[in-house]
Amino acid sequence: MASPKAPIGTRDILPPESSRWEALIATFAQLMGGAGYGLVQSPAFEDLSVFQRIGEGTDLVRKEMYEFEDKSGRHLALRPEGTASIARAFIQHRPTTPWKVWYAAPSFRYERPQAGRYRQHHQLGAEAVGSLDPDLDVEVIALAWDLFASLGLRRVVLLVNTMGDPGDREPYMERLSAYLEKHRGDLADEDRKKAAEHPLRVLDSNRAATRDVVRDAPRLPDHVSGDAVAHFERVQAGLGALEIPFVIEPLLVRGLDYYTRTTFELQASALDTAQDAIGGGGRYDGLVEALGGPPTPGIGFALGIERILLACNAEDTFGVSDTSVEVFVVDVAGGESARDLVAELRRGGIAADRAFDQRSMKAQMKSADRAGARLALIVGPDELSSGTVTVRDLEGGDQEVVARADALDRVRKTLS
Ligand code: HAM
Repeated sequence: MASPKAPIGTRDILPPESSRWEALIATFAQLMGGAGYGLVQSPAFEDLSVFQRIGEGTDLVRKEMYEFEDKSGRHLALRPEGTASIARAFIQHRPTTPWKVWYAAPSFRYERPQAGRYRQHHQLGAEAVGSLDPDLDVEVIALAWDLFASLGLRRVVLLVNTMGDPGDREPYMERLSAYLEKHRGDLADEDRKKAAEHPLRVLDSNRAATRDVVRDAPRLPDHVSGDAVAHFERVQAGLGALEIPFVIEPLLVRGLDYYTRTTFELQASALDTAQDAIGGGGRYDGLVEALGGPPTPGIGFALGIERILLACNAEDTFGVSDTSVEVFVVDVAGGESARDLVAELRRGGIAADRAFDQRSMKAQMKSADRAGARLALIVGPDELSSGTVTVRDLEGGDQEVVARADALDRVRKTLS
């Protein structure tokens, strides 16, 4: 039998790459915690119906969900995105509002894998449920923006749009459908069926023929209510006040059906267009109600961890040094010293490691180097019999012999 491999579209994140993941999630956790957002861990799968509310017309629901029946015949699906789960949890637990939460979690989509597109990708997300205040939109967008700034990403473009309220959508859709029908012949072949079934999805087509048609199509922001216009203006003023540059993109509709009013997307110009969406979000003022809860507005975003790190590579930023130990214990006198010293150092708050299997001095010194240790604590037969330890500075090469009982103190002093 061929040896098993990770399923297509998934991958293992191994050290040292994984230390960047750790650092990224920690940076995000700190940012969100500092803004009053708490961590939510929701299940990786939910009742299928939770995710169906994302939109029956979306590719995500129609083609990309990992659906299954469990052994009792329940219809379930792996989480394709985080927002529906948060809305479900909000309804179930009724927390006080605004409920401000964040998550770092895998999402599963049966997509065609390619560079920057996976079947299991990982999102950093934020959701704020229970307020219609446009300043909350500004807060949420600013958090995403500030995360990228703190990673050192400079080439990020923020696109914003308004989808209006659900009541605005229907008359607009009629106009859009009529326009697309009139220009049906000029659309790219692949977009004709979509134009009839889901006209909004045609607006962000990347096919040249369709883009030509769409350029003069009726635009959603021109057809939204006064309240939604005022909301959008307040959001723009807020972004301006916080000195966050943005581009209004009237064709930005996003791939999920639950959006209302503010929508936004963050693009990394350092990546090619197939994978440059490093994050996106918006309001979903009808989602909680659609899932059976009380009418409750909400806004949030999700950022793709894989894409963020690709953008960091492209901009040569957010380099994280490999996790390295400070001290390596080299024991060629039986192994008890390594066992006990490593435990003592770790309990004393020093990052320490050792070799196993009674390796030679040379092999253990090599391991110490590979581990990136600053100091080696060496115990040979002489040290063992005299109750001492040799402390060697692996950078400068100096070494001294200290009493075994003073080893931890000496290490602390040298490292500080
Ligand atoms: P989304 O745009 O579908 O939005 O996904 C958010 C981000 O996840 C994307 O911008 C991208 O960086 C990343 N992403 C999505 N699919 C893949 C994939 N197959 N491979 C790699 N990365 C991917 C949402 O999921 C919404 N829940 C965002 C939101 C939160 N809206 C309101 N609150």
